[in-house]
Amino acid sequence: MTRRILVTGGAGFVGSHLVAALLERGDDVTVFDDLSTGHRAAVLPGARLIVGDLADAAALDAALAPGGWHAVFHFAALSLVGDSMRQPMHYLRTNIGNGLALIDACVRHGVPRFVLSSTAALFGSAGAGAIDESAAIDPGSPYGESKAALERALLWADRIHGLRSAALRYFNAAGADPAGRLGEDHRPESHLVPLVIDAALGRRAEMSIFGTDYPTPDGTCVRDYVHVTDLAQAHLCALAQLNHSSVTYNLGNGAGTSVLEVIRAVERVGGRKVPVAIAPRRPGDPAFLVAASGRIRREAGWNPEYGAIDAIVASAWAWREAHPLGYAG
Ligand code: UFG
Repeated sequence: MTRRILVTGGAGFVGSHLVAALLERGDDVTVFDDLSTGHRAAVLPGARLIVGDLADAAALDAALAPGGWHAVFHFAALSLVGDSMRQPMHYLRTNIGNGLALIDACVRHGVPRFVLSSTAALFGSAGAGAIDESAAIDPGSPYGESKAALERALLWADRIHGLRSAALRYFNAAGADPAGRLGEDHRPESHLVPLVIDAALGRRAEMSIFGTDYPTPDGTCVRDYVHVTDLAQAHLCALAQLNHSSVTYNLGNGAGTSVLEVIRAVERVGGRKVPVAIAPRRPGDPAFLVAASGRIRREAGWNPEYGAIDAIVASAWAWREAHPLGYAG
């Protein structure tokens, strides 16, 4: 039976890779995206694209009107930690307002399953240990706070309306579609892996290291980089679990990689030197964020394929090198 799926933000980085995975298994996919940060060309042929804003209640109702939904995946959101420290109310209002409107519309239209793109930014001041799902929620930024609010709202939607949900806390999504169809294209780019690659390719004069005085082994921030295709697979694993109950999963490889180690990985993979400059810390950045992802591996059989940082960087390098203008090329 073909499953009918709605993906908000399906023209964005992680969303577009999920759409690829859904199409590969034969699902009927509709993307709802305002294209403010997503790209029309990131929606693979085979998926239907509705260009719309989640704040537009009529557009959302019209998108859901066909009914018969198997699930809604919600990616569409403002997603930059640093940006959220400059525009806190904008982040809280947009992400919480749009998320609540979507959850409410799903309840009204009888959608049975909901998958939320949540974030490691829920754990703002975590210490230097891998973070599992029992860790205290303590967002270090309005961005993290906005996702925490939606996770809470989904608990009530389940308890009162029976809407089953998965809260998937991504650690640092990176890499690109191994088939070369999709990649990371933010404008302007603010994420570490593509910026380091651009510096190595000579497309920018240098990349800035935001802080070398963190309490980490080499003084730079440590993150858990996870391949975007592995993240897409985690969504399929989590979706299957919703036949039993709502779930919450932390998604990472369990390996901490510092900013300096990412730079070394790019130099190894690309065979070129990365010009760097030391810059002050970026407000909102926790020193250390590494996932303990045992729960989704155990319960849902998630088994990441591209766990090594060099494999993640190699796929990002291939896409970035082939697409100097991103999707515009
Ligand atoms: N960094 C630099 N220089 C740069 C860019 C980033 O040193 O030019 C550092 C950051 O300070 C941070 C690390 O590289 O320590 C990763 O930064 P990113 O901007 O690539 O990613 P973030 O960790 O800020 O955030 C990402 C997503 C969020 C998500 C979070 C979860 O953008 O949506 O991962 O950990 F919540």
